[in-house]
Amino acid sequence: MKRIFTAIAAAVLLGVPAMAQKYVIDTKKTSLVIDAEEGKAPAFRYYGARLAEGDLVGAQLNTDKRSAYPTRLDSAPTPDALSVEMPDGNVTVDLRVESASISALEGGKELEICCKDPLYPTFKVRIHYRSCEAEDMIETWTDIVNEGKKPVVLHRFDSGFLPIDEGDVWLVSLHGSWGNECKLVTEPLARGTREISGHNGICNNAIAHSEVMFSLDGEPRENSGRVIGAALCYGGNFELRVVTKNDSAHRFLAGICPRDSWYTLGKGETFTTPKLAYSWSDEGMGGVSRNFHRWGRKYMLTHGGEPGDILLNSWEGVYFDINEEDMHRMANDIKAIGGELFVIDDGWFGSEKYPRNDDKQGLGDWSVLPEKLPHGIQGMADYCKSIGIKFGIWIEPEMCNIGSELYEKHPDWVIGAKGRDIVPGRGGSQLVLDLCNPAVQDHVFGVLDNIMKQAPGVSYIKWDCNYLINSPGSPYLKNQNHLYIEYMRGLTKVLDRVREAYPDLAIQLCSSGGRRVGWGLLPWFDEFWTSDNTDALQRIRIQWGTSLFFPAEAMACHVSASPNHQTGRLIPLKYRIDVAMSGRLGFELQPSKLSEKEREICKNAVADYKTIRETVQCGDLYRLMSPFDKKGVASLMYCSPDKTQAAFFWWRTEFLRGEHPPRVPLAGLDPDMNYRITELNKVEGEPVMALDGKVVSGRFLMSNGFRIPGKSSYFGSNDWHSHVLRLDAVK
Ligand code: DGJ
Repeated sequence: MKRIFTAIAAAVLLGVPAMAQKYVIDTKKTSLVIDAEEGKAPAFRYYGARLAEGDLVGAQLNTDKRSAYPTRLDSAPTPDALSVEMPDGNVTVDLRVESASISALEGGKELEICCKDPLYPTFKVRIHYRSCEAEDMIETWTDIVNEGKKPVVLHRFDSGFLPIDEGDVWLVSLHGSWGNECKLVTEPLARGTREISGHNGICNNAIAHSEVMFSLDGEPRENSGRVIGAALCYGGNFELRVVTKNDSAHRFLAGICPRDSWYTLGKGETFTTPKLAYSWSDEGMGGVSRNFHRWGRKYMLTHGGEPGDILLNSWEGVYFDINEEDMHRMANDIKAIGGELFVIDDGWFGSEKYPRNDDKQGLGDWSVLPEKLPHGIQGMADYCKSIGIKFGIWIEPEMCNIGSELYEKHPDWVIGAKGRDIVPGRGGSQLVLDLCNPAVQDHVFGVLDNIMKQAPGVSYIKWDCNYLINSPGSPYLKNQNHLYIEYMRGLTKVLDRVREAYPDLAIQLCSSGGRRVGWGLLPWFDEFWTSDNTDALQRIRIQWGTSLFFPAEAMACHVSASPNHQTGRLIPLKYRIDVAMSGRLGFELQPSKLSEKEREICKNAVADYKTIRETVQCGDLYRLMSPFDKKGVASLMYCSPDKTQAAFFWWRTEFLRGEHPPRVPLAGLDPDMNYRITELNKVEGEPVMALDGKVVSGRFLMSNGFRIPGKSSYFGSNDWHSHVLRLDAVK
């Protein structure tokens, strides 16, 4: 229902001073209020718990009338979201409302506020707020328009501004590195400026993430307390700023990182910023995560809401050592344990001169090596089809090696600053193709398109990206300040073409693991490779951090060999499976090295996973006990939306004699339903939990949880103790 509150009329009736026209955007549980009065600056008045009709008059909304999109000239000085150099050199901009309107969209509404600068009336900004009502999400972005004859230079062009309540506000962010992605960083917001940014041009979640949460009630809790989560949906360079002034009010701004990216907005040009998505919940961090997951599945991911296949990826099993016979065997092996898809990773391609046998050459030359796959990609796809599974293949199309025919032919197609030596990456020879150049865009699209034309039987692509821009320079562009922005535009143009041509294809986003995991690029993908680190113990943390914003459906979690290839740790198969089963389950090992007993364990686990797959991948996540809290246990669970099924995961992360694991109360169940408990992944069919087969009420489970035995009877070791339980509602 459209709720535009014309306060002047109400003010007259109520005998209170006249107020500006308020625009209210409601979601199921939240409201956003913006003042948009003609001739005045648009003002941000409120974001939080849903307002009742009378609250607009009676409640104390923000009174200092912070601009909804601050510039330097605002009366309540705030760091600017927009900073501009006008054609005559004036570096100020003043935004005044021209008009505002709310329109209905599927699933929500959109408020558009059109502003212009009275001194430069051809300079306009349209501020957008779009609601996703059921998911309690707001998306905001702006169009910056130059209707003048001369160029305007944008020095800063944030996507959005969000004032956060004053008080004991804590910031939660994600930080990491290769093999150690998404570590939770939790800190109280102190006075001053906290900046979080990524600016390597290509894989910007390598260290920091463009998603944060703000806990408004002190130290964040999982399932209680008011929390705002925000994500800048952009794959390129980003910058988030939280500015806390002396009044303890916090101002949050997010947008494209302007460093080396001043943007010249030409005559008649419109610059649309990426969107900033945010959500408010009074159910703690978990509430915000669930909102992001629902929104991600419905509005963002390609094929969101359709559970992913159980697959085997060849990488850790054979690395570059690909041959057809072995690939057939691996395909049969994954089929035999109940899997649905076989994926050949790096190493299948190259040219006669530059065969891809290691990471030093071949990238760019995307022909099948006949000595490795004599019947080509379609031959592999046909083989997989004949045994009843799907087939997928790896590419890294945005890159080339110095050792490639592509580079010999097109040395001007790579990124590198003019007059400087090129700085190669992986293998001492990897370079980034200049996606600003339309000819390069055609090539990159062609890599995937040629594969699909040659082998229409391919149903899954792993799209990798293992280098970044460290010597910024485009041989194609005239204005080098536009490089980072044009790279992302070029990439998204290619991805649009891919999706238009191959709407049904499943595509995994990978960047040496999780360096591109973000809502900027995920809309073109089905899922992401969470980390190159497949060590189950460390994966508990990586997956935990990743789950703050990204749903299990998109989180590829593979069972790998022991000792683990990244950490050397020896971990029993059950524990490895129990961890991988909490996301999109897959395998990344050489099955021929498994014993018969281990194959049987995998087969049972796959069958068990299929009984909870929908709940895990498309259900509501409740994180119960954090591995970052160092309690010796980590635990989480998923509930189906109708609460008739749940999947409970419990992993011992440290065993000390005489230390008893804490009891973990469950969450998200229906207190009035009774649930039958079934232990999954029973080794040799033996249940360890005395609860297996028992029926317990949701109320009891949420107030008491399970008492898990202190010791594990598996494998004679207490270290690797884990349980997966399925809860089915009984009448
Ligand atoms: C990096 C990825 O993260 C790995 O999974 C694998 O695909 C390699 N690249 C292949 O080179």
